[in-house]
Amino acid sequence: GSVLPSSADLLRWYDRHRRTLPWRALPGQEADPYRVWLSEIMLQQTTVTAVIPYFERFVDAFPDVMALARAPQDRVLALWAGLGYYARARNLHACAQAVAARGGRFPDTVEGLRELPGIGPYTAAAIAAIAFGRPVVPVDGNVERVTARLFAMTDPLPGARRAIAQQAETLNEDAPAQARPSDFAQALFDLGAGICTPRSPACALCPWHGSCAGLRQGIAATLPRRAAK
Ligand code: ADE
Repeated sequence: GSVLPSSADLLRWYDRHRRTLPWRALPGQEADPYRVWLSEIMLQQTTVTAVIPYFERFVDAFPDVMALARAPQDRVLALWAGLGYYARARNLHACAQAVAARGGRFPDTVEGLRELPGIGPYTAAAIAAIAFGRPVVPVDGNVERVTARLFAMTDPLPGARRAIAQQAETLNEDAPAQARPSDFAQALFDLGAGICTPRSPACALCPWHGSCAGLRQGIAATLPRRAAK
């Protein structure tokens, strides 16, 4: 029979293999909501590798949300140049001003974060989990892929999106994940980026290889499926 994926296995793997990223708190340190938010906005349509130098320049120029809020928009857009999707940069600036108007503190719940400009359901969940330790699973393309494979979900995207997201939300129901929501969310990102990759996943190295239905059925690399256009 199948064994449910244990969050303890994923967290143990993460403790050994976690990536050092400039927006990521070191073990034992508190996350900075400003840096978490900024990174999540930048990562929306851009890869981690491409984002890193932009992120560094941004936080050098604007070390906190108040500094970003009072910067002239053309300066913000100039530092954004090359990342594309300029609506994101304008929303970013509007969001910084909304947070500044509340004294510089980000809301610490999914619902509160959702009310800010440029923050959709995924980004709200990512910030709530990573910056504020809320036990929610941010479901991006990586987490969708990991989930579809773990549970051998063969219905194609985009129709299966809701079912995959609901299944993903079961991953953090056990006690180890509930105790470390921030690490759990980031462990899922790292697993999707480094092991459970779109092509040729490194299943032999996966902390969940013993509980992956997609691997057991020999179909992991083909998931998630996508409806023919
Ligand atoms: N993709 C989206 N958010 C991320 C994060 N915090 N770390 C790594 N990859 C990510």
